Amino acid sequence: MSTDLRLEGVVRAIGRGGDAVVETDRGVVLVPGALPGERVEILVTQRKRGARRGRLLGVLETASGRVAPPCPEASRCGGCPLMIAAPALQREIKLGFLREACRDLPGADTTLARWVPSPLGSGYRRRARLAWDRGRFGYRRLHTRRVVDIESCMILAPPLAAAWTEARLHLGGALRGEGQIQLELASPGHVVVGLSTRDAQPPAVFESCAELARSGPVVGVALRAGEEVAPARWGETELTLRSGAETMVLPAGGFSQANDAVNEALIETVVKLAEPRGASVLELHCGAGNFTVPLAAEAPSRLVAVEQDRAAVEACRANLARRKLGARVTAGDANDPPRGSYDVVVLDPPRQGARTLFEKSGLLPGPKRVVYVSCDTATLGRDLELVTRSGYRIDHMIAFDMFPQTAHLESVVRLVRS
Ligand SMILES: C[S@@+](CC[C@H](N)C(=O)[O-])C[C@H]1O[C@@H](n2cnc3c(N)ncnc32)[C@H](O)[C@@H]1O
Repeated sequence: MSTDLRLEGVVRAIGRGGDAVVETDRGVVLVPGALPGERVEILVTQRKRGARRGRLLGVLETASGRVAPPCPEASRCGGCPLMIAAPALQREIKLGFLREACRDLPGADTTLARWVPSPLGSGYRRRARLAWDRGRFGYRRLHTRRVVDIESCMILAPPLAAAWTEARLHLGGALRGEGQIQLELASPGHVVVGLSTRDAQPPAVFESCAELARSGPVVGVALRAGEEVAPARWGETELTLRSGAETMVLPAGGFSQANDAVNEALIETVVKLAEPRGASVLELHCGAGNFTVPLAAEAPSRLVAVEQDRAAVEACRANLARRKLGARVTAGDANDPPRGSYDVVVLDPPRQGARTLFEKSGLLPGPKRVVYVSCDTATLGRDLELVTRSGYRIDHMIAFDMFPQTAHLESVVRLVRS
């Protein structure tokens, strides 16, 4: 199929990346900005590795769940592809991702998939990764490295939105080349800004960072530039995270869940499904202890937690020690966990999933329960197939709307030995 071709088609579904899958008489084309059931006119703009991409020229028949996006930047930025869908339609689309991942697997009744909504549809993000590139400050456009200049973003928690304004003001004219800007809620109302770039920066940037660390809600700045291994720091760069009734300490720049209210529901669900009381528990990808602390509160001496990021391991140990909770936290590869006899495995891998763990480690079969927390339903589906082939069946599947307006989904699936 040539590019720059105008076509009409019908949207069959939303792909996991958030693009509409448009069926045309010349094949399937991925196009941002359309919804299932809509008849659209599109321009094919790209053909890359078998996937055809296009641009929406017009919607000829509109889906009933279509709404006007509340953000004026929605179509230019591309970071919130579902902002054009009403909450009920967003829910259907994302539940569909989870149902697809579990379809036809033992035990899976896809009609029983549960949905946990986010109390906030905007202003929910407690951390965000933005970028700069030769004078443009904003988000990298979906599927590209191009930075779209964004003055404000409505999904950021209010302190992050205010910190973004300050960062643009103080660093806008100073930063050279390109790089990444991470905004993280350090404690209620306070923000830490992390900058990393391969490009050496002029002295003015260091002065601007010092000023930024004292501006508005910003309490600390870390800058890693050029060949420097250790970042330069100004102000306070340690983070605390409220999770349920707990306050957790986190290393800046490490992993933390993006939406506090949904994270609370996630923790509650993981602990409930793990049934840790009286059980021996293996927790993989434990980070700074988001699930470890509440699990250890119920399975004090029989919890082994594994994490590869050293700073997160230290934070996890400190979070347990502050509460006098006993658990063994090991720095290592979750794909090769400590040998032992476990009743329960809880895992929360990055997007790549846990294929090596299930194919190579010999962990399964053994544990009675596997609680799989996933941020990518594509790798989840692949891994669930491996787990069920080892003699397990699905008995719970729950979707958490951690990232409203986007196509990202957090989900939890429990498997029990058949
Ligand atoms: C999605 S985060 C989950 C962290 C934690 N469960 C939480 O809720 O905050 C995934 C974690 O897995 C860690 N990780 C990634 N690959 C790993 C591996 N091969 N072995 C151990 N940990 C790994 C990352 O450093 C990160 O902390």
